[in-house]
Amino acid sequence: MLTGSPAIPFQQMHMQADTSGRVLVLDSGVGGLSVQREIKRMLPDAALLYLADRAAFPYGDWDAAALREHICALVVSVSEVWQPSAVVIACNTASTLVLKSLREIMSVPVVGTVPAIKPAASQTQSGVFAVLATPGTVKRDYTQDLIIEFAPEHHIALVGATGLAALAEDKLAGRVVDLDRLLQEIVPCFVEKDGQRTDCIVLGCTHYPFLQEEMEQVAPWPVTWIDPAPAIAKRLVQVVEPETIATGFEDLFFLTS
Ligand code: DGL
Repeated sequence: MLTGSPAIPFQQMHMQADTSGRVLVLDSGVGGLSVQREIKRMLPDAALLYLADRAAFPYGDWDAAALREHICALVVSVSEVWQPSAVVIACNTASTLVLKSLREIMSVPVVGTVPAIKPAASQTQSGVFAVLATPGTVKRDYTQDLIIEFAPEHHIALVGATGLAALAEDKLAGRVVDLDRLLQEIVPCFVEKDGQRTDCIVLGCTHYPFLQEEMEQVAPWPVTWIDPAPAIAKRLVQVVEPETIATGFEDLFFLTS
């Protein structure tokens, strides 16, 4: 999972940077690795600095104002030491809340991950799709605004899953995924409306692509799963100045505790 680099305690992150210009990738846990792997596909030489804010996991349960303050403070303090070339908030729960504030305070590009409602609205054949995300993400005005702008005529099941991110953490830690629990979490996505049924599910949390295989296994019927990670990596490539990205260094993985 960590491709050669052991997890380093967060305290050491503040001791000394080996280089400036890494791309900082942040999530509450390992979910953002689904974005990181796409970034590596598009920018194989880029040196990344992955920060899993494990001490604050799950972001999905946080009060919005407190989470905004926490993430802004974290990104600013890490950036003071590491001087990243770009910041990728590889988390829907955080992005739907902090992008505007972070862009105001950071001088480098800030790329976020938000629910892929626009792609779902264009891919669905039935007009019925689901957004599977954390309870925080489904509540956000940002998510509601995406629906109003891109899918006003569609029937959308907005499903706030309370334990799915933890199941993904379990899987990546080598533990067995509880399939009954998984089914309970995803079953509200499968709806029928006026003779049409859900044909697409937006993976609105970066942890969920790691569970796609298991979700396919227990799903009541086949659907298209929409993972925005490749689009996030593409966006990063568009906005970052290539000459500012550090290369030739191994990726680093830090963990708050
Ligand atoms: N990976 C995160 C997301 O994209 C959040 C999971 C959590 O911490 O609740 O929403």
